Amino acid sequence: MPGLLHLDSSADLTGSTTRALTRTFAETWRGLGPQHTVTYRDLHTDPPPHLSDAALHWAPRLRVAGETPDPAAAATQELLLAELFAADVLVIGAPMYNWSIPSTLKAWIDQVHVLGVTAPFDTREQPLAGRPVVVVSARGAQYGPGSPTAGWDHAVPPVELVLGRSLGMAVTVVTAEATLAFRVPAMAELRDAAQTELNAAQRSVVELAARLGHQAAVRR
Ligand SMILES: Cc1cc2nc3c(=O)[nH]c(=O)nc-3n(C[C@H](O)[C@H](O)[C@H](O)COP(=O)(O)O)c2cc1C
Repeated sequence: MPGLLHLDSSADLTGSTTRALTRTFAETWRGLGPQHTVTYRDLHTDPPPHLSDAALHWAPRLRVAGETPDPAAAATQELLLAELFAADVLVIGAPMYNWSIPSTLKAWIDQVHVLGVTAPFDTREQPLAGRPVVVVSARGAQYGPGSPTAGWDHAVPPVELVLGRSLGMAVTVVTAEATLAFRVPAMAELRDAAQTELNAAQRSVVELAARLGHQAAVRR
């Protein structure tokens, strides 16, 4: 049963671009057949707790004397880790908030980036190495090469660093830029470009869900 873990983090429950794109991804995944299951977690409406204890950044065997995290907090972390390990593919809605990611998504990352469990520390093992993750980014303005704000994107790079570099997952990023052009009159001249990019992002999530879903079925 190829399983998708679908995460959203936008605080916009009505007009969110990332929610629309991750929904399309999940619907395409489900459309591959009844064996393609989806686990959904809305990090905005049901936020994971902030990491309550630095000891939770370490596998239990790596904790030092006196590091005894609250069992309830450890149980919550184990649930989030179990969802991650069970997933063949992840799709994550990651809107840009203040040039970074929503704090709810950051809290989820802090919960699942655990040295000696998901990330190598005392061994070189990356148990999630090669696991596909599609990060769907939407941002109000433009940050591409040559734009005045090139280099201001601190939303996608940390997600890529943690999931891609540290956990070894196979990260693909789908981006929709200038989404505020549809809302802010002063950005109206960017609407055509924003719509073109949004259309391309929609095609990308359909293609990715179909391809990754088929590959996951073959691997199972
Ligand atoms: C709290 C908040 C902070 C934001 N900060 C930025 C920002 O720093 N840069 C930017 O380009 N857009 C920013 N935006 C606009 C969002 O990135 C944009 O509306 C995007 O489409 C949000 O994703 P969503 O449509 O899935 O909700 C912000 C929006 C909100 C609600």
